[in-house]
Amino acid sequence: MPMGSKYGTHRVIEPVGAMPQTAKRINNDMSTVYDNEILLDVIALNIDSASFTQIETEAGHDEQKIAAKIMSIVAERGKQQNPVTGSGGMLIGKVAKIGSALKDRDLKVGDKIASLVSLSLTPLKINKITKVMSDVDRVLIDGQAILFESGIYAKLPTDMDEGLALAALDIAGAPAQTAKLVKPGDSVLVLGAGGKSGLMCCYEAMKRVGPTGRVIANIRNEKYVKPLRDMKLCHEIAMADSTKPVEVLEAVLKANNGKEVDIVINCVNLEGCEMASILPVRDNGIVYFFSMATSFTRAALGAEGIGKDVLMIIGNGYTKDHAEITLWELRENAQLRKYFEEQYVK
Ligand SMILES: NC(=O)c1ccc[n+]([C@@H]2O[C@H](COP(=O)([O-])OP(=O)(O)OC[C@H]3O[C@@H](n4cnc5c(N)ncnc54)[C@H](OP(=O)(O)O)[C@@H]3O)[C@@H](O)[C@H]2O)c1
Repeated sequence: MPMGSKYGTHRVIEPVGAMPQTAKRINNDMSTVYDNEILLDVIALNIDSASFTQIETEAGHDEQKIAAKIMSIVAERGKQQNPVTGSGGMLIGKVAKIGSALKDRDLKVGDKIASLVSLSLTPLKINKITKVMSDVDRVLIDGQAILFESGIYAKLPTDMDEGLALAALDIAGAPAQTAKLVKPGDSVLVLGAGGKSGLMCCYEAMKRVGPTGRVIANIRNEKYVKPLRDMKLCHEIAMADSTKPVEVLEAVLKANNGKEVDIVINCVNLEGCEMASILPVRDNGIVYFFSMATSFTRAALGAEGIGKDVLMIIGNGYTKDHAEITLWELRENAQLRKYFEEQYVK
């Protein structure tokens, strides 16, 4: 077989010249595997939370309709990219074939891996969806996928359950970025603190701020108060709906001695939370938008509109060593690991 592009552009169908992530449609023909591609037999798709929430709402929470919607997206686009949120997710699969140019990889046929590049750029063919697991945004499938030469992946760790590793690796960029952004003495607000990325970011922020800093967890649901408090994942809780910026600001000021915070990390899976992220941060502070439901336009124009000079960071799903950092968090915090196992191992 010939060599394809390192970045997978040889599989882009339309528009011509696009990259696989931004393409409307990519080639998911699995009978031709290029010399610098890896073919995977897919076991499970972890659909990005913002995407799954949108599909689930559109399908009226009916699992058959959710499966039909996912099948139709993949049939139309050759990849699992939600046309509304634009986001994908990641997968677990078994290596079925390694192209001849990638034989030096630390991989062999039969290895189980998790893809660390988005499903929104991964050629995917679904023969059948065998189970929809709405409570964990996951679907089990019979199908195949392609990893490009530039596609990063992690071999599944042998010391933890697959479901646990999948849940953590899905959001690996967030805690790893938190580790890099937060400094001793910082005040940090985590929006959507009760979810997967929110809990991990809270834990990482608590480690980084030290005795003089403060971590404030924003939630809208009482059920997260106990785990956040029991696991000591925050100093204060700001109970507020993240789609209501003034409500969030008031709760945060109350939790932070009347002061705006240094850093806001947005881990909400719902759109319309840009201003709740920008309003509570101090001038020259940092807003890290991990949420895939973030609108660049709303964030940029919203910050300008209230005269806030803040650094706004797009939540790149990748940062160096993100998989290792995130899995390590679960290894070093037995309580957090147990909570994740209870929530995400099914
Ligand atoms: N940048 C990347 O590469 C990347 C990678 C993976 C995921 N993501 C994105 O990161 C976000 C979080 O993902 P996740 O897997 O951590 O999601 P998750 O586990 O579903 O958590 C989302 C949390 O947001 C909370 N929430 C939703 N609406 C809220 C509101 N109005 N006010 C306050 N809290 C609210 C939810 O609480 P309730 O229970 O109250 O609804 C939930 O605890 C998603 O947008 C996802 O798309 C980004």
